[in-house]
Amino acid sequence: MHLVSNENAIFCLYLSSPEIFANIRENQIHTSRESRRLTKGTILREAYHHLVYINGLDVSMMKDERVTKGRRRPHKSTSVWSLTMKRLPKMHTDAKVIIGDSQNMHELSNESVQLVVTSPPYFNAPFDYPDLFKSYDEFLQMMTNSAKEVRRVVSSGRIVALVVDDTLIEGKKYPVVADITKIFVEKGFKYRERITWVKPEGYIRISKRSGVILQHPYPMYYYPDNLQESILIFQKGDFNYKSVPSRIKELSTIDKREFQENKWYLSVWRITNVLPNNNRLEKGIAAFPEEIPYRLIKLFSYWGETVLDPFLGSGTTMKVANELQRNSAGYEIDMELKEIIKAKLSIDDSKFIVRRDCKRLRTQLQSRIKREVAKNG
Ligand SMILES: C[S@@+](CC[C@H](N)C(=O)[O-])C[C@H]1O[C@@H](n2cnc3c(N)ncnc32)[C@H](O)[C@@H]1O
Repeated sequence: MHLVSNENAIFCLYLSSPEIFANIRENQIHTSRESRRLTKGTILREAYHHLVYINGLDVSMMKDERVTKGRRRPHKSTSVWSLTMKRLPKMHTDAKVIIGDSQNMHELSNESVQLVVTSPPYFNAPFDYPDLFKSYDEFLQMMTNSAKEVRRVVSSGRIVALVVDDTLIEGKKYPVVADITKIFVEKGFKYRERITWVKPEGYIRISKRSGVILQHPYPMYYYPDNLQESILIFQKGDFNYKSVPSRIKELSTIDKREFQENKWYLSVWRITNVLPNNNRLEKGIAAFPEEIPYRLIKLFSYWGETVLDPFLGSGTTMKVANELQRNSAGYEIDMELKEIIKAKLSIDDSKFIVRRDCKRLRTQLQSRIKREVAKNG
């Protein structure tokens, strides 16, 4: 059996017997990552898995993952694919979106999700959520209630990852990262890791800060521009590594080359942010780039498990979860984001539950942001 790509970047699965032949176009694979790899000449394990999932085949005996572009047979230096082909039930990922407040996630039963990836609203950040909360205490209370619900729904031993940053409002810095860490630890999570997400230098939204020292080149006038956010990683007790069947492990294998080349091994992740571009679906949502949930989902969940985002925004986490063959659930309080989520995830109304505690936020926030921009120039 050979896995090859032709000139048009079409993934092809050939079997020595003609019983099964799958020819799957790039856009059915969904992510651009695989096609990038393909054009470089190598199809990695993951692209192959996508194919296999789509066709419901078992790859538990897969021996090698490399194929050379344009060749019908693997290159001499790579060993021949050796597979036991069995029919598997087709992997159908489920997606559920609740338009409502994630301080109450009663739709999810206890320990029903295996990973949480999220980015809570940046406390009253002037260019994202001006005056969303009446006070910092109200924000912390909301985070405390959400942390409690998250702890209830996450399986034992599993991970909660939050992308957070301190907020600067009218010269006052709020220690959001420290306070959220404290909340999660007090709710019984282990503080496992803090990864620093560094954005490219060209990205500075509030650029005037560092200019102060140019006007006053003296000590004490130093206010650096912010290029980073924290990815906080918490764990609910210990993980039982022996609980995962070997076939599921195999299906969830992390691509070592990607791990090395993109430096996932560092506690600093250099990833380009989503630019606040007018034409984007995510405009005005403070969305994170797909690369963040992509890494977290690959590093902390297994094939077929369920990923939750309690502050869904445009739906980035669920989109990536679906592409990686994970089930997903999300909570978003703002009814005005429903159509954006629908478009991003390509789902219809049947996947939504709209609760009475949802709000209408975006229009209101956008007009406040315009006022902020006018005020700050
Ligand atoms: C920073 S954004 C998330 C962006 C998301 N990661 C993405 O890529 O699009 C936070 C989201 O949480 C929502 N939100 C705020 N409070 C909430 C609550 N109590 N329950 C559910 N969603 C909430 C906001 O409306 C906002 O869309």
